[in-house]
Amino acid sequence: MSIPVSQFDALIIGAGGGGMRAALQLARADAKVAVVSKVFPTRSHTVAAQGGINAALANVLPDNWHWHMFDTVKGSDYLGDQDAIEYMCKIAPQVVYELEHTGVPFSRLDNGKIYQRRFGGQSQNYGGEQAARTCAAADRTGHVIVHTLYQQNLRAQTHFFDEYFAIDLLKAEDGSIQGALVLCIETGEPMIIQAKTTLLATGGCGQMYRNNTNALINTGDGMAMAMRAGVPVEDMEFFQFHPTGIAGKGILITEGARGEGGYLTNADGERFMERYAPNAKDLASRDVVSRAIHTEVKEGRGCGPNKDFVYLHLDHLGEEVLQKRLPGIRATSIAFLGIDPVDAPIPIYPTAHYVMGGVPTDRFGQVVVPVGTGPEEAVPGLYAAGECACASVHGGNRLGGNSLLDILVFGRAAANNMIEALKENPSHKTLSQESIDAAVTNLTRWDDISEGSETVEGLRNELQRTMETYCGVYRDKTMLDEGVEKVRELLKRLPNARLKDHSKIFNTARIEALELENLMQLSLATIVSAQAREESRGAHSRVDFPTRDDDKWMKHSLFFMEGERLDYKPVRSKPLTVESFPPKERTY
Ligand code: FUM
Repeated sequence: MSIPVSQFDALIIGAGGGGMRAALQLARADAKVAVVSKVFPTRSHTVAAQGGINAALANVLPDNWHWHMFDTVKGSDYLGDQDAIEYMCKIAPQVVYELEHTGVPFSRLDNGKIYQRRFGGQSQNYGGEQAARTCAAADRTGHVIVHTLYQQNLRAQTHFFDEYFAIDLLKAEDGSIQGALVLCIETGEPMIIQAKTTLLATGGCGQMYRNNTNALINTGDGMAMAMRAGVPVEDMEFFQFHPTGIAGKGILITEGARGEGGYLTNADGERFMERYAPNAKDLASRDVVSRAIHTEVKEGRGCGPNKDFVYLHLDHLGEEVLQKRLPGIRATSIAFLGIDPVDAPIPIYPTAHYVMGGVPTDRFGQVVVPVGTGPEEAVPGLYAAGECACASVHGGNRLGGNSLLDILVFGRAAANNMIEALKENPSHKTLSQESIDAAVTNLTRWDDISEGSETVEGLRNELQRTMETYCGVYRDKTMLDEGVEKVRELLKRLPNARLKDHSKIFNTARIEALELENLMQLSLATIVSAQAREESRGAHSRVDFPTRDDDKWMKHSLFFMEGERLDYKPVRSKPLTVESFPPKERTY
């Protein structure tokens, strides 16, 4: 097969906030940049980020980056790397002001400054009053960021490959990453994008769960590509369940709703969060609130005929506040439930939202891997940013509002690092034929027209139910052992799946098949890592190991696809310039 080749300085895979922030930095530095996106860029999942982006601007109440850092370390259940967290929290105000000057239309306070609201897990340092650190554009913050970055990238002459699907990373003969094999969804034709530097910015993999807040496109493509290229994935057992998904549907109702004063009640009308988190109450961190809701329902205090949800109340806030600060969630509730939160509470239940783990990087967005017993080494040419990466700023549990921050801080940092790398490596290297052949085989495997006993849709449904049942909010050994076997079995059945439609033009069934393979590999990484971690920390709650075990488990897990191997590496608990926050009992 002869495949056309296009050459660029930088290839960015994914056009969400992380990818587009990186692309903008590179394009403004005169690099020739390609952005590959399987959807039109402004449909990337960042548009779904509602509540806002954290930065200690102190526009509403006193605040500073050091408190933001403390909250993030505590929120991570002390698994976050404190050097990366310090870097992120310190640069956050600059990154937000850059956004403001790029044209992002933030909501405003009466004095004209950027509006900031309360979010979960933020410090209570002011006589019990919680910080208000989350900079918001009503409840459409991700939406306005993506649209602004897209416009600015067009202006900077970034080259967009819209509706192209990345199949696999390609290597040069020296093993460095040199771009990717991609598929044009419109024509069904493959193309090689050869690049001196490649950034994975493909977002998360929430579609491994049945009930989730994620777009259908969130299938972990970048993480799976990295695994197939021999790179491990880090801390995959830490999967965040957002407390307030619409019950039974999973659709996100922003934490900003509680930030604006919303609260939760059980079937007895009790504000039950007062029992679980006496200080922060409804604005405790997400892992704490999700577990509390799960427990209320399990112990029979759920609402409705099946006692399987709790209520989120917003009616006391009044129509004016809801329309001004939360117009999107009001519209969502009316559209999907027929409930106007001005009048009645919203039924909610925890829903799969965000993976804390991903492709391991340093705080400059460079992908790093362990080499023997020595320090980690860079994978030449490969960078990652955002949810698909693990710069390890979220550890065991991410704070709301730190996700938009993460994508922008590390998209920008990775791009700066790539600009330096381009100065040192100004030429393209010869691509390895072996790596091209492996990527082509992954694609053409779906051209097999023989009879198959499985369907992509059937396997995907089974996978999502398996992950939900065996690797959800609470876990134990029996559950995880069974779940691991079930996911392994599903992976064995995958080669028996066939496409019914082999046409080329806009064959979305082919894309779904490729996505399923990615999701399956990541599900295995997630559940195997969860099975091994015998403690409870952050979002990983083992009923058989209910406490955190810092002596044994203060370490990051690394899952390698080859041989389903697990390895571990230490947490970097030494910050850059300040004193370390030592592990403490985590209460809210
Ligand atoms: O609740 C939300 O608005 C989600 C924000 C986040 O995940 O950071």
